[in-house]
Amino acid sequence: MAIPPEPAGSQSQHERIYAAARYYDIAFAYRDFPDECEFLTRAAARQMGRDPASVLELAAGPANHAIELARRGLAATALDREPAMVQYGTEKAAAAGVALNYAQGDMTAFTLERPVDLALLLLGSAACLLTNDAVISCLRRVADALNPGGVLIIELPHPRELFNIDDATEDGWEVTQDGTRVKVRWGSDGDSMNPVSQVAQVTTTLTIWEDKRKQVIRDRAFQRRFTVQEVDALARASGSLETVAWYGGLDMDVAIDDPEQAWRMVAVLQKPIG
Ligand SMILES: C[S@@+](CC[C@H](N)C(=O)[O-])C[C@H]1O[C@@H](n2cnc3c(N)ncnc32)[C@H](O)[C@@H]1O
Repeated sequence: MAIPPEPAGSQSQHERIYAAARYYDIAFAYRDFPDECEFLTRAAARQMGRDPASVLELAAGPANHAIELARRGLAATALDREPAMVQYGTEKAAAAGVALNYAQGDMTAFTLERPVDLALLLLGSAACLLTNDAVISCLRRVADALNPGGVLIIELPHPRELFNIDDATEDGWEVTQDGTRVKVRWGSDGDSMNPVSQVAQVTTTLTIWEDKRKQVIRDRAFQRRFTVQEVDALARASGSLETVAWYGGLDMDVAIDDPEQAWRMVAVLQKPIG
């Protein structure tokens, strides 16, 4: 069956939010990057039989994971479509005193000079790939960029949310950093989801208080919703990566089907050795 294309084509938007790279970084700074990177390297090592020595962060935004992994000695590369994110992440890496090779590009159409052991597509960034063709293109590009036995780790919302079983994550929160306060509202009551394409319209609002000034950035994006079965089927359809492990969060101890603890859908895909 042919799925009618969404108005946005095969790519998401949220351009205003991503162009405001520093405010985006503050909004998502609630995460524990060292802890998440501990999980990412352990999950990769479990499949590879050794620690990864190099990483590519796709749709990297501020590239916090790539920067933390570079700090731990991995050769780090990052890729993002949004020039403001590339500039922001590059400056952040320089300020942290780590080497990061950050390029502007599309995750469905890129090549790497040197293959890596570990590729990352985190915080729901795969939801920017609206069609099966876009996902398969991305997986094939990643497979080309991985060493044999290398892994791709994808983090997405848990399907419990898609099926309205419950809300696994918060859709409103606030972060203050160095005197700048950013309030986030991810999704609004008027948002809708197309049940055929599984593409949702998501309205995001950042309210920023800085230097006694208030600023509101409101943006709309299309975001694809995925199930566990689809991610597995898309990996198989790519003919280049195999799904080898699932987790219910960026945590080795949380199973994907844990009804109490699982809050994210984390897939580990591996490039076969042979
Ligand atoms: C939700 S943010 C995630 C950023 C980062 N991974 C994190 O954990 O904070 C999504 C990022 O994906 C980028 N993006 C969206 N579509 C892309 C594409 N087709 N290729 C490369 N980057 C893309 C956006 O510019 C944005 O920086």
